[in-house]
Amino acid sequence: MTSFLSNLFGKETLSVIGIDIGSSSIKVVQLKKKGAQAILETYGELSLGPYAGVSVGQATSLPEEKITQALSDLLKEKEVNVTTRLAGIAIPYSSSLMTVVEMPVVPPKELATMIPIEARKYIPVPISEVSLDWSVIPRDTFKLDPLPEDASVQAAAPTVAPTGKMQTQDVLLVAIHNETLSRFGNIAAKNQLITSFFEIEIFSTMRAVLDQTTAPMMIFDMGAATTKLFIVERGILRVSHTINRGSQNITSAISKSFGIEVDKAEVMKRHFGLTDTTPDGVNVSKIIILTLDFLFIEANRIILAYEKKYNKNVSKVLLVGGGSSLKGIEALAQKNFQTEVYGGDPFSKVVTPAFLDEILKQTGPQFAVALGLALRRLEEQA
Ligand SMILES: Nc1ncnc2c1ncn2[C@@H]1O[C@H](COP(=O)(O)OP(=O)(O)OP(=O)(O)O)[C@@H](O)[C@H]1O
Ligand SMILES: [Mg+2]
Repeated sequence: MTSFLSNLFGKETLSVIGIDIGSSSIKVVQLKKKGAQAILETYGELSLGPYAGVSVGQATSLPEEKITQALSDLLKEKEVNVTTRLAGIAIPYSSSLMTVVEMPVVPPKELATMIPIEARKYIPVPISEVSLDWSVIPRDTFKLDPLPEDASVQAAAPTVAPTGKMQTQDVLLVAIHNETLSRFGNIAAKNQLITSFFEIEIFSTMRAVLDQTTAPMMIFDMGAATTKLFIVERGILRVSHTINRGSQNITSAISKSFGIEVDKAEVMKRHFGLTDTTPDGVNVSKIIILTLDFLFIEANRIILAYEKKYNKNVSKVLLVGGGSSLKGIEALAQKNFQTEVYGGDPFSKVVTPAFLDEILKQTGPQFAVALGLALRRLEEQA
């Protein structure tokens, strides 16, 4: 006899995975749903450096076959023990083109025909070569007359305010090159993955780390070669910006200063971070701070520009990406920002074994994208 108590938790769904193919490593997170809860089953990471003849922690630019092979190796890795092929995959932010466009307030169907025409102004390649997606950014205040629910009864002409001025709306426009989509499609197919969506990484991160905060906030994603900055307000992406400097720059700086190999510098970076410990009397944190200062200055510039433009305070900064696993980064960041700084803790959104708490908090920032993807894949099964 099976226990009827198990019904209390609802039916279990199949396990799903989120796959984040970053420039320096592939990350995977496997979740399962039990009742209303998402449960962490396993997670893992595979460095791409060795596939490209560079050190762990360095960014790579690998051809499709090598990525396919690396992903296959990660999915076969016994210690990670991925047991499902139901997946969601991230598209790197750098392979996308995002812009906010101002459009007249028209019914959704009409907007759908207007967007590709408008998109031509912003997209430097023929529209036939990209896949477009968009979403209307809701207004802060109810300045607009709401449109009727039923599109068929909506007037074809744009809504005109009583002042006679045409009402406009901001629309977030996203384009991905078809070649990118087919590249990721091939990588997935060759690994027998049942992929139901590709999602630009920032949207996965947002799902993984955002809370109920409606005020503007910054997501600071420090990867290997780049640091990506995003401002999100009321759960909507408003600003995105890439700095061509990331955690691998810290490694090279350590390598040069100490005259040591890159892989040794990488170990040193991860081991000491910004702690006060000084191997051989030389302070590693001084070297690390040089790179971080540059990034924080840039991030502050973006924050100030947003605050000035919209006359609002950016309420907090969330640190994600492997570079944010650096020991002591939160405290240093806090000194540099006038706003609250938090380390992103994506695993707090799911049920995890207590004995992993410490390690998940430390490595968590790196898995934000993969976790966000898995959460979406899980929702699809509900
Ligand atoms: N504990 C740690 N301390 C300091 N740095 C770390 C630590 N763990 C990882 N890193 C650094 O984080 C970087 C990788 O971060 P992440 O995995 O977020 O990048 P990625 O997703 O591959 O890159 P991108 O998103 O830019 O394509 C590497 O440069 C690595 O050295
Ligand atoms: Mg990344």
